Amino acid sequence: MKPIVMINLKTYKQGTGKEGLALVKTIAKVAKDYDVEMVVCSQMADICRHSQICACESKEGGCTAFDSLGIEIYSQTIEPIKFGSNTGHELPETIKEAGAVGTLLNHSEHRERIDHIESCISRAREVGLKIVVCANTAHIAEAIAAFSPDFVAVEPPELIGGDVSVSKAKPELITDTVDKVNLVNKNVGVLVGAGIKNAEDLRIALKLGARGVLLASGVVCSADPEGSLRGLLEGLKG
Ligand code: G3P
Repeated sequence: MKPIVMINLKTYKQGTGKEGLALVKTIAKVAKDYDVEMVVCSQMADICRHSQICACESKEGGCTAFDSLGIEIYSQTIEPIKFGSNTGHELPETIKEAGAVGTLLNHSEHRERIDHIESCISRAREVGLKIVVCANTAHIAEAIAAFSPDFVAVEPPELIGGDVSVSKAKPELITDTVDKVNLVNKNVGVLVGAGIKNAEDLRIALKLGARGVLLASGVVCSADPEGSLRGLLEGLKG
């Protein structure tokens, strides 16, 4: 199994619209040079253009896919709604058809109640979206693992967007989460995030049993996203 590097574009300007598309192309180009499963979490309206280099930019207009970027696009959340009268909401089927292969749920910036998370997981399963659920502590990760998502991503909120990584500041959180989640369901992988920026951060996370990392600002807000991502991915070399 390849390690997973998941980049959340959030609503950063650098990850939005045409600027975001250029960033996703850079991420895809870099990912080709490494043995990694690269995932990008895009805003809803950008999923189509990120999952396919679509004809939105061509003279013909429209949104006819003609090439694939070779990375996986996830939505940043889903809602557990079904076909019908839900004006203003986003249907999981539409997200899937737009080209997303998975969804991130319960991010610290978009927390949900546990019953809502369970409903979202079940709708994501119905439509065939992979599921990563964020948790702010090892105990929350343990509780969420009982719903059998594909991954839980543990992120201490106070380190999100900062310069100190979870790998360096809280390595015990990684081992604790891996142990707790494994006891509940060995098929649920653990990702770790918050402040992840460089090769050492990635190396430590993998060494402590994580399947991969979830990050944002280290690449999205970098003055040199390609260089920052290449620097981070060097951590895959052990
Ligand atoms: O979703 C990833 C995120 O919350 C971590 O953000 O900027 O600390 O890598 P960042």
